[in-house]
Amino acid sequence: MKKAFITGITGQDGAYLAKLLLDKGYEVHGGVRRISQPETVRLEKLGVAKDVHLHEFDLTEMNNIFRTIRDYPVDEFYNLAAQSFVGTSWELPIYTADADGMAVVRILDTLRTLKPDTRFYQASTSEMFGLVQEVPQRETTRLYPRSPYGVAKVYGHYITMNYRESFGMHSSSGILFNHESPLRGKEFVTRKITLALAKLAKGGSDPVVLGNLDAKRDWGFAGDYVEGMWRMLQQDVADDYVLATGVTTTIRDFIRFAAEALGMEPVFSGEGIHETAIDAKTGKRIVEISEKFFRPAEVELLIGDASKAEQNLGWKATVSVQGLAQMMAKADYDELA
Ligand code: NAP
Ligand code: GDD
Repeated sequence: MKKAFITGITGQDGAYLAKLLLDKGYEVHGGVRRISQPETVRLEKLGVAKDVHLHEFDLTEMNNIFRTIRDYPVDEFYNLAAQSFVGTSWELPIYTADADGMAVVRILDTLRTLKPDTRFYQASTSEMFGLVQEVPQRETTRLYPRSPYGVAKVYGHYITMNYRESFGMHSSSGILFNHESPLRGKEFVTRKITLALAKLAKGGSDPVVLGNLDAKRDWGFAGDYVEGMWRMLQQDVADDYVLATGVTTTIRDFIRFAAEALGMEPVFSGEGIHETAIDAKTGKRIVEISEKFFRPAEVELLIGDASKAEQNLGWKATVSVQGLAQMMAKADYDELA
């Protein structure tokens, strides 16, 4: 039986990956940081909370990482934990650098010392492309991060490559474009939209208040992307791979897809911070704009080219952005009382 360790097992991807590995017969260990009320709700929703072994773990604590790797040696180590919200990275830039950058070398160097044959996955991100230097973005596109989060992830990305090249470790980076699901955190734009629209569809009256509706993202389904992570670690040779759908969509169009899935007829009017949308069926205002949700520097366009992953890993996204918006909106609607 293969053993795996997942940092960030309580997060969106951690929960889907834990389920995938359990279904494949792995013994799954996961790191959980100390918070006042431990959140295993995603693992519970996927029905796997009782099947995983949870250990106290914090990215910022070197000796804790050392003891964890010493006491629970595994075949595959997936580093998914991070301060993952781009907006917060301007408020917590130093913590973000530590958790999303330095922590990667803490883990890699401990693995190198204690168990260098462990296969390692680093959660890199399309946010590293930032002010994009090429369209679509691929593994060789020059990086130009636009947030403290993106900058920290660039360090994690290059140190993962560096330990592969310096010490021959099997360390791979997945450069993953945005991926979402009904388990997505409520602060990310897709889930913020589907939850607010589901409440409106249930009779509520509060519009969703957003920032830049013109930004474009390449959105896929998280369940597909964790399969890609696993496939990377099954290769004989470690490497870096983009995972993406190859389709890009504005925030405004994502709102349209989610609203239509809930039986609304969204109509947009106005510009900039005066833009709004109403549901033509009910006349209810469903979208408002606030300067509060604009970022100091924006990533305007992301669209990925995942042909290397398709060729080498046989991986392809299976859920369209329309299907994703529908899945998330329906899940939120069904869950509301
Ligand atoms: P998520 O839902 O926000 O999960 C993040 C996880 O990290 C949570 O389990 C969180 O624990 C844990 N964590 C945060 N700080 C920690 C610390 N100091 N020590 C230990 N654990 C800590 O994120 P996700 O969407 O699953 O993303 C997984 C990874 O992929 C992240 O590294 C993210 O940056 C990266 N990524 C995500 C996407 C995407 O679109 N989802 C795309 C590219 C890359 P708590 O439960 O206690 O908060
Ligand atoms: N969160 C949020 N809230 N975003 C908004 C809002 C709002 O009210 N209004 C507009 N947006 C825009 C943001 O400005 C951004 O352009 C876009 O919606 C997506 O924002 P998020 O959903 O927060 O995701 P992200 O693209 O910044 O980051 C996610 O994807 C990265 C991969 O590209 C996160 O999952 C990162 O961890 C991940 O690395």
